Amino acid sequence: RVYAKKVRPAFRRRQVELGQLNAVLNDNISGIREIKAFTREDAEAQRISLGIENYRRSLLYALKMMAIFQPLVDFSSSVGMLVVIYFGGMLVNDGALAIADLVAFFLYLEMLYQPIRMLSDAWERIQETLASGDRVDELLQESPEVEERPDAMRLAARAKGEIVFENVSFCYSQGDMVLENICLEIGAGQMVALVGPTGVGKSTLVSLIPRFYDPVAGTVRLDGIDTRHLELESLRQQISIVLQDVFLFHGTVRENILFGNPDACEVDMMRAARVANAHQFIRDLSNGYDTLIGERGVKLSGGQKQRLSIARAVLKDAPVLILDEATSSVDTETELLIQEALERLMEGKTTIIIAHRLSTVRNADKIIVLENTHIVETGTHQELVSVGGLYNRLYTAQRRLQHLSA
Ligand SMILES: Nc1ncnc2c1ncn2[C@@H]1O[C@H](COP(=O)(O)OP(=O)(O)OP(=O)(O)O)[C@@H](O)[C@H]1O
Ligand SMILES: [Mg+2]
Repeated sequence: RVYAKKVRPAFRRRQVELGQLNAVLNDNISGIREIKAFTREDAEAQRISLGIENYRRSLLYALKMMAIFQPLVDFSSSVGMLVVIYFGGMLVNDGALAIADLVAFFLYLEMLYQPIRMLSDAWERIQETLASGDRVDELLQESPEVEERPDAMRLAARAKGEIVFENVSFCYSQGDMVLENICLEIGAGQMVALVGPTGVGKSTLVSLIPRFYDPVAGTVRLDGIDTRHLELESLRQQISIVLQDVFLFHGTVRENILFGNPDACEVDMMRAARVANAHQFIRDLSNGYDTLIGERGVKLSGGQKQRLSIARAVLKDAPVLILDEATSSVDTETELLIQEALERLMEGKTTIIIAHRLSTVRNADKIIVLENTHIVETGTHQELVSVGGLYNRLYTAQRRLQHLSA
C-alpha cells in the first residue's frame, strides 16, 4: 500500500510533466513564425527549459521512489511466500485442502510479478526517452537558415517603415525559382496590396521582409538599410504580422494578446482588444480574458481568432505591418468587424497586404500583381482596371462571383 501511495503518484506526476512539456514543444513548433515575428525566442526557450527541468526532476523522483520501495516490496512478498509455503506445507501434512493452497500460492506469485513488470515497463520508457532525446539532439544540431552577422546593428529608433526590394530572387532549398528579379518600393506609411494566383509566391515575398528566409540574390532594405545588416530582433521588432492561418498558443486569451508585447499593462491589453473588435466576444467567453484557448482550451471561430491576432498586432504597434489575408470565409457581419479592425490597425503604418478579396485592395496606394515569378503589373486600382491586364481579369472574375452569390 505504501508502494501504491508513493510510487504510482510519482509516476503519474512524471506523466503530467511530460504532457506539459509536449504541449509547450508543440506550441513552439507550430507557432514558430509567431515566435520569430514577435521576437519571443528567449522567453519561449526558457519556457521549454523549465518544462524539461520539471520533467527531469519528476522522473528522477519517481525512479528514486521506486528504487527505495521496490526492495521492500520484493522482501515482503518473499516473506509472504515463505509463510504460504510453510503453513501450506503444514496443512497439506495435516491432510487439509491442497487446491486452496495452490490458488493462494499463485495469487501471491502474481503480486510479486506485478512490480517487476512495472520496473521493466519503466526501463522500456527510459529507453524510449533516450531514443527521442537522440532525435531532439539531431534537430538541435540543425543550423538556422538565416544567420545574424556578428557585426549586425540595432536600429537606433523606431523605423520609419520604408521598404525596398532590389532585384530580389528567391527559391526554397529544393525547388524552382519562386521569385525572380523583384523590384519594389514601398514608401513609409503606404499601403501596398499584393495580388496574384494561388501559389505564385505572395506569402513567400512578404516572409523575406522579417527575414524568415534570405533572398538568393538581391537585397531587401528597411529605411535604406540592408536587412541582413540588422540584428534579427531589432528588425523583427519593427514588423507586425497577421498570418493567413492564425496560430494561438495554449494559454489564456490575455496571454495570447500579450504575446504582442509582454510588458503591456492590463489597460493597454484591453484597449488593443477593443481596437481589434475582440473585446465584445472575449467578455462573453466563460472566463473572459482568463479563458483557456488553443489546443486544449476553448475552440474559437476563424473570425474570432483573426481578431485576436489583430489585437496582438495592435499591442505590438510596429511601424511595418504585414497582412496575409485569410482565405477562409466568414459571415458578412464578422467580415465587417474584421475589416474595421484592420483599418484601425493599418493607420499610420507601412502595410503590405496580401489580398484574396479584391474589395480590400481598392483603396491601396499601390497594387502589385504577381504572375509566375515576376511582378507583371503595378498601379492603383483605377490604373490597372483601365490597362485591362491580369488584374482586370481577376477583378472582373471576382465581381462576377460576388454577383452570383449575392
Ligand atoms: N516552406 C516551403 N518550402 C518549399 N516550398 C515552398 C514553401 N512554402 C511555399 N513553397 C512553394 O513556393 C511557392 C509559392 O508559395 P506561396 O505560399 O508563397 O504562395 P502564395 O502566393 O502565398 O499562395 P496562396 O495565395 O495560396 O497563399 C509554391 O509553389 C509553394 O509550393
Ligand atoms: Mg499565401
